[in-house]
Amino acid sequence: ASSSDEHDVVIIGGGVAGYVAAIKAGQEGLKARLSLTTTACIEKRGALGGTCLNVGCIPSKSLLNNTHLYHQILHDTKKRGIDVGIVKLNLEQMMKAKQTSVDGLTKGIEFLFKKNSVDYVKGMGSFVNEHEVKVDLLDGGEKTLRGKNIIIATGSEATPFLGLNIDEERIVTSTGALSLKEVPKKMVVIGGGIIGLEMASVWSRLGADVTVVEFLNQIGGPGMDAEVAKQAQKILQKQGIQFLLGTKVTNGSDSGSTVSVNVEAAKGGKEQTLDADVVLVAIGRRPYTAGLGLENIGLEIDERGRLVIDQEYRTKASHIRVIGDCTFGPMLAHKAEEEAVAAIEYIKKGFGHVNYGAIPSVMYTHPEVAWVGQNEAEIKASGVKYRVGNFPFSANSRAKTNLETEGFVKLISDAETDRILGVHIIGPGAGEMIAEATLAIEYGASSEDVARTCHAHPTLAEAFKEAAMATYSKAIHF
Ligand code: FAD
Ligand code: NAI
Repeated sequence: ASSSDEHDVVIIGGGVAGYVAAIKAGQEGLKARLSLTTTACIEKRGALGGTCLNVGCIPSKSLLNNTHLYHQILHDTKKRGIDVGIVKLNLEQMMKAKQTSVDGLTKGIEFLFKKNSVDYVKGMGSFVNEHEVKVDLLDGGEKTLRGKNIIIATGSEATPFLGLNIDEERIVTSTGALSLKEVPKKMVVIGGGIIGLEMASVWSRLGADVTVVEFLNQIGGPGMDAEVAKQAQKILQKQGIQFLLGTKVTNGSDSGSTVSVNVEAAKGGKEQTLDADVVLVAIGRRPYTAGLGLENIGLEIDERGRLVIDQEYRTKASHIRVIGDCTFGPMLAHKAEEEAVAAIEYIKKGFGHVNYGAIPSVMYTHPEVAWVGQNEAEIKASGVKYRVGNFPFSANSRAKTNLETEGFVKLISDAETDRILGVHIIGPGAGEMIAEATLAIEYGASSEDVARTCHAHPTLAEAFKEAAMATYSKAIHF
């Protein structure tokens, strides 16, 4: 390769992990010196931002916000003293609004790349050897980049369901579910994890008859506290979503007009067939490394397809690091972002840090569900003695004024040290409130630290303070 193709850092993948690493590398000075651009980010999608911006976090939150508004205007205005006239759905406009948000943000990253002298290379990257990545350029031709350091940030893809052929129109992953052209009459969702429940909420609010089939006896996917999951299910059921728990999908078929899926009790036994216009496959995601040429450099992947790394994100080739969804840890955008910053700091300074014990999770249904730290079952299993403080939003003044009193805050602390071990919230604004809990855990706070911190009145966050109080004393308002 010529010298202009030589870089300090070559990043493969322009998703949250990759683009944040690129910007951070630029900021850290791994950037243009004379005519030498030293950070390059290769992305094959034709847009930056990866799954999160293009077909994940951002479009889903746009639809969740606007379908909630629609649903609220239809069903939740009278008691507030607001009489509305005819309410009509304009799905095309709702999808345009979604696209406007996506486009604005992806273009924003292109701007940040320019600002930080990152070389944006549009195409598919694959390893030729440990230091060279060949790029099949989107507009034809190819180019080889040589990297002193290489970061793999190729993300993940939906796990397919054997026997159901995804066409993204009638048998869809989240990608198709974010762009349906009309509201399905009947929708079956396979998998009651976060994607399943967020998408079930979107289409159910718009009028679809939605059934979620979940293998386990609990919704919410891995990590959600059982008590919270139970409450979430109750609330979502009240909103019209139906659930078949402890049930697995065995196979399915598409007649051209109807998609049928056969289900049976997870433990064997009762079978039934569910017919739908649209079936969403949401049984998890798996690392994406297809076409990356890993075989050319012999990098190791584990039984779940994750690239194997050490604590500093290094593969066995120590100048090749891996971050984000294609390696260990929760598949979350903010986790990818933290790793991106840490990986660049390792390269530049030799040290970096991510606290995997303080990564929040949020499910953006209504109400939201959010948690950080360990759930009760995990704490119980660890053998640590603990105390639980619970505070219901029905006793919180702001929730009362908002006429949104469903849910509670559950705070679990160490019975001996009072240190906060986990916070689980279901309720209005849980996704924002969890930031305070995350900060508390990050700083090793005790529940008394939180309980003795003055919180503004009337705010939903007072429920968090009172749940903390309830662990070692009594909440005032409940
Ligand atoms: P990705 O975002 O998948 O990016 C990888 C990029 O690499 C892709 O753009 C891909 O095209 C590119 N690429 C792959 N191979 C190559 C190659 N060989 N050459 C060049 N480019 C390549 N997380 C949250 O935290 N909050 C949410 O609300 C949330 N909502 C979600 C909703 C949905 C529907 C989905 C599917 C996911 C959601 N997630 C959410 C998860 C989040 O999207 C991921 O955790 C995040 O995108 C991971 O970032 P990444 O950079 O590791 O991977
Ligand atoms: P998930 O792992 O959260 O949930 C999948 C669910 O499907 C599990 O509950 C599992 O028991 C069930 N399942 C598996 N096989 C099944 C079968 N054959 N029949 C019935 N049920 C079956 O995965 P999901 O929801 O696909 O999401 C993937 C990833 O995307 C998650 O890791 C999540 O972190 C991320 N994500 C995050 C969001 C957020 O932060 N708000 C939103 C959407 C996705």
